[in-house]
Amino acid sequence: MPFQAGREFTVESAARRLAGGALVAFPTETVYGLGARADDDSAVAQVFQAKGRPADHPLIVHVLDEQGARAFARELPPVALRLMRAFWPGPVTVIVPRRADMAQACAGGQDSIGLRCPAHPLARALLQRALELGVPGVAAPSANRFGRVSPTTAAHVWQEFGDAVPVLDGGPCEAGIESAIVDCTRGEPVLLRPGTVERLALERACGHALGEPDAAAPRAPGTLESHYAPVSKLRLMAPGDINAALVAAGVHRAAVRQGVDAGALARHRQALGLYSTSCPAGTEGLGLIWRAMPQTPQAVARELFAVLRELDAAVAQRGGGEIWVEAPPRGAQWEGVRDRLTRAAA
Ligand code: TXA
Ligand code: MG
Repeated sequence: MPFQAGREFTVESAARRLAGGALVAFPTETVYGLGARADDDSAVAQVFQAKGRPADHPLIVHVLDEQGARAFARELPPVALRLMRAFWPGPVTVIVPRRADMAQACAGGQDSIGLRCPAHPLARALLQRALELGVPGVAAPSANRFGRVSPTTAAHVWQEFGDAVPVLDGGPCEAGIESAIVDCTRGEPVLLRPGTVERLALERACGHALGEPDAAAPRAPGTLESHYAPVSKLRLMAPGDINAALVAAGVHRAAVRQGVDAGALARHRQALGLYSTSCPAGTEGLGLIWRAMPQTPQAVARELFAVLRELDAAVAQRGGGEIWVEAPPRGAQWEGVRDRLTRAAA
């Protein structure tokens, strides 16, 4: 991996770059973010440009604490305060009414603002030092090109932007999928994007059931039907269907071929039928690359985007290859992972 930047790049130099209006990528406990100072519209414009993101899709602002949130929020509705006090610092973003004079470009035309208080120690050190340098908050979407898989390592960020964006290297992200987003601007709280904190835990903290997004909900790319997508076609499949597809694709006859025809991510060895013996976890062969899907939703979330990138890179070399993923269970704890996989398959 040619990635080197993390070695020389420090919190101090990252904070100075942010203060000067330049872009910096940094780790959070969910995914890596592509940061710019939130109060500088031309710095924020560079984020939209680098990502290829339409300017009317708002960015989340990262702050150190509740006091930091007040610099951007016109008011903090009771439901937002309950969520902040229950989960901050941590992977829950609240959408609240915005101060009219703050972060217009970030907000993409909305009169609301998304606020998140990350738990990752490097993110916190960066926000702290940037604040000392006069930066009230850092706008940061996931550090990937629009619509693509979010980065969970510094090397992933380098794959997206190369040397154009320096990366603070904090190692692999702990949660692995983006924060839960709760819209607190519309009376009842609405879950715009599920994350690793379960719906029930959010509802308990709110003291209120979470509503579903409807047509009136603000634009949120993380909630577009197709998002988080690898380059190769991704199919979500029942275990038996993966076997059938392998046979139909003739992957079992590919022993003499070079390269990878399909990438599979499956929880059950049976999902790979006869291949389970010839292709044990982590090995490549017979034109198939298989990665075992862990058993818990936390473990799946942590490595999901890294595995999708790996399978995508292997499969894409051949052209026309597909990624087959065993559909996760229906349980409520799987909501975040299920959401990302459904959008990646759309
Ligand atoms: O975990 C995360 O949230 C990561 C890390 C870097 O913090 N960030 C992230 O940002 O996922 P991004 O931009 O990729 O996704 C932010 C989502 C988008 O779907 C955006 O539209 C929505 O939040 N959002 C931001 N501000 C909003 C607002 N005012 N109203 C509605 N949705 C908003
Ligand atoms: Mg994103």
